[in-house]
Amino acid sequence: MIALPVGSGSGGRPPSGMLAATPLSMSRLSLLIDLASLLGREVDLDTLLATACERMAESLRADRASIWLVDAERGDLVTRVALLPEVPELRQPMGQGLAGHVARTGVTVRVDEAASDPRFDPSADRATGYHTQSMLVAAIREHGRAPVRGVIQLLNRKDGPFDSEDERYLEALAQQLARALSLTTLRAPDESGPGLMLRGPFNRIVGRSAAMRKVYQRVGLAAQTDATVLLRGETGTGKGLFARAIHVNSPRQGGPFVTVDCTTLPAQLVESELFGHERGAFTGAERRVRGKVELAHEGTLFLDEIGELPPEMQGKLLRFLQERSYERVGGRETLRADVRVVCATHRDLEKLVADGKFREDLYFRVRVVVIDVPPLRERGPDEIEILARHFAEMYADRYGRPVPVLEPDAMAVLRRHRWAGNVRELEHWVESAVVLSPDGRIADELWPQSRRGGEPAPTSAAPREAGVTLPAGLTLDDAIERYIRATVDACGGNKTEAAKRLGVGRNTVGRALKK
Ligand SMILES: Nc1ncnc2c1ncn2[C@@H]1O[C@H](COP(=O)(O)OP(=O)(O)OP(=O)(O)O)[C@@H](O)[C@H]1O
Ligand SMILES: [Mg+2]
Repeated sequence: MIALPVGSGSGGRPPSGMLAATPLSMSRLSLLIDLASLLGREVDLDTLLATACERMAESLRADRASIWLVDAERGDLVTRVALLPEVPELRQPMGQGLAGHVARTGVTVRVDEAASDPRFDPSADRATGYHTQSMLVAAIREHGRAPVRGVIQLLNRKDGPFDSEDERYLEALAQQLARALSLTTLRAPDESGPGLMLRGPFNRIVGRSAAMRKVYQRVGLAAQTDATVLLRGETGTGKGLFARAIHVNSPRQGGPFVTVDCTTLPAQLVESELFGHERGAFTGAERRVRGKVELAHEGTLFLDEIGELPPEMQGKLLRFLQERSYERVGGRETLRADVRVVCATHRDLEKLVADGKFREDLYFRVRVVVIDVPPLRERGPDEIEILARHFAEMYADRYGRPVPVLEPDAMAVLRRHRWAGNVRELEHWVESAVVLSPDGRIADELWPQSRRGGEPAPTSAAPREAGVTLPAGLTLDDAIERYIRATVDACGGNKTEAAKRLGVGRNTVGRALKK
């Protein structure tokens, strides 16, 4: 449901209660619809907020707009995006200035001459040289009694002061925005408290360690260009997430994001998978099929696990990277595709080159911008905590569990644990604890190491051959289930790898974990 303010702009008011299709009301209507459609999409947070800011300023004819969020951890207000290019980020205590006043009280403020209002804080104007005159500030909250997540602040309406209609309209927008925020990684720490957890610049990617900040910075810079990116990192460090983040933050965000997983393809199929094939190209090719390269036209092609690309394909990929042209299998026509390429690997490509398994010229083509994604063990305990809370909320949402509370003992175990590289291992611990805790309280006995009777959980840093201790008196079924679980843990949560090691199908492993 979209709440619409009634009436149009100040010029040519329609009879009260009617929404006339004047250009202004249409632009306001389309802005509300736009925000609503942003809700469901996976977008970069700052893009979402910046778009919202820009459109709000435009439709309310304000000269400047900024969004301030309440930082739940520090208890102050921080500008997240601002059409105020002079200032990168401002922080101020709750209650200070008009924005702070609205953040604390939740009540909209509209002033024609800011300087004459005793609550106005002139320090931002002093710092920037900007002269604030009229101001309209509304709280970002889902409804009138909901906790405040931040404020939207509009400055200097271009033709006359803000009016009461602008006020109601901005309040409707602020509600939409509050709903959008509740679907992102910028979530409230708890439903009833004010503020949001500001966990990172991208949606669904959390973490603020120094190691991750470096990654964000590179991802942000690389995204602005069409340069080929190579994401390196151990299994489960988030390479796939960052590949997508590069796409959604790039000018190609409106185009397709197409993944080719080089590990799952038999060598003879890779070429047709990438470049497509013509009808009759080989037995079974009953019709022309477009390849991933063609499907990624005007978007991003993500070549996952590029180190596994069969040698016979490496030359063909090299040619494509050099010329952006290719032929379908069995075809004579040379085709061109406008794609941006992002690659990922957990392998040491230099070593593969040295061993003659990966073409050196291809290696140089691929490693234009290299982004190393750090293993979990290098991110520190604070980041473990942020990730654990993020996964707990995510899985509680998915499984319809109450908002989870991670008890201090449980968190202490997570912070102390010697994690390997794979973030999935932590994710699986938390997922399973959420499932096993119908009331949302997560205590330390829910961690796998406690469930196994206190022996430390194997991590990938521990020898993969670490044994499993099974208490006597188990039924054979229970013993099998525990053994499967232990193997999955030893594989860092990778069920496919565990199935391979156990010599059973992936479904068998899945079933055991579901029990
Ligand atoms: N910083 C992060 N924030 C939130 N989730 C994360 C983060 N890093 C990793 N994850 C989660 O961990 C899991 C592994 O991430 P992803 O699949 O992107 O890693 P990968 O490096 O591509 O792994 P692989 O080598 O196995 O393909 C995913 O479920 C992902 O959502
Ligand atoms: Mg991956």
